Amino acid sequence: MSVSQTPLADFYSDTQTLPTNDMLKSVIGVKTGDERHGACPTTNALCERVADLFGMESAVFLPSGSMCNQIAIAVHTQPGDEIICSRESHIVFAEAGGLAKLSGAMVSVIDCERGLFESSDVSRLYRRPSSFAPRTRLVVTEQTSNLGGGAIWPVEQLADVAKTAQELGLSVHMDGARALNASVATGIDLATYASDHDSAWLAFTKGLGCPVGAVLAGSRDFIERAWHFKRMFGGAMRQTGVLTAMCLHALDHHVERLAEDHARAKRIETQLDGCELFRQVYPVETNIVLAEIDPRFEIAASELRTFLASRNVQVMAVGTSKIRMITHLDVDDLAVESLINGIEEFLTSI
Ligand SMILES: Cc1ncc(COP(=O)(O)O)c(C=O)c1O
Repeated sequence: MSVSQTPLADFYSDTQTLPTNDMLKSVIGVKTGDERHGACPTTNALCERVADLFGMESAVFLPSGSMCNQIAIAVHTQPGDEIICSRESHIVFAEAGGLAKLSGAMVSVIDCERGLFESSDVSRLYRRPSSFAPRTRLVVTEQTSNLGGGAIWPVEQLADVAKTAQELGLSVHMDGARALNASVATGIDLATYASDHDSAWLAFTKGLGCPVGAVLAGSRDFIERAWHFKRMFGGAMRQTGVLTAMCLHALDHHVERLAEDHARAKRIETQLDGCELFRQVYPVETNIVLAEIDPRFEIAASELRTFLASRNVQVMAVGTSKIRMITHLDVDDLAVESLINGIEEFLTSI
């Protein structure tokens, strides 16, 4: 088979999935209405379901995970306030500085192993109230950590961080883009992970395979305030039932199968572990594989990415030395084989 005939093996991100036929069929005949007036029964049902999953009072449907984060920050902070989070958080590296522009917030970042910090980091960075210092106001956790290679926050560590933040009078928000991956991998439910958090959200466009959508959950009061920013930021939509029907379908059919993505990621880890090209393959816990090229080869991650792309295999270069590979609904065993073969071919070509 020539390269052009090889099916695309897309490990760039779990956001690349296309809706399945069954998912598209779930939209036909769906009951919908104007969501911004609370008149879309399907969207209301999805929000209730996600609020229940997180053990929270209420929830709101939003177009993206970034908007969930930005609205949560806007609700929890005032301009000039400080947020404590990992340096590798999505809100720091990939939301276009939104927290500064939209909420006037600043960040105090923690350099930590795989995006997971400790309660002692929160206590250390917390600023006692003073007329000089910014007001520490919010702690943000990310379950699982994306740049941490899909690392799962151990539930005790997460609870400890959240409790310490609460004792200091801070709010706690969870970026739960891949919280269901953590839940499926450990068997610990979302409500347990989110306990002691004031807000949390779930992405439908990652492992769940939907084209659009995320749901942000919190107390009734928090969600009322979130609606204000949803309108302000242009996230209030109309007949969203056509989107949320797919999200409900994904909750019914695409959660347990995340275990298949985890198994494939584990297989990639095992194969790459024995490959001399890499100095380190981070232990795989969910659907993300992060591998660091051995510096003795003097090869940039972008060179490997470009070579693999020429073989119809997509990966992401992270910084100069790491490549990230994510498994999802649209990668199968053949794709894994193409990836491993491509890397072996690269190694023999250098
Ligand atoms: C950890 C994490 N948070 C937030 C987001 C943002 O989600 P969205 O692409 O829906 O804005 C992503 C996207 O990949 C992510 O990985």
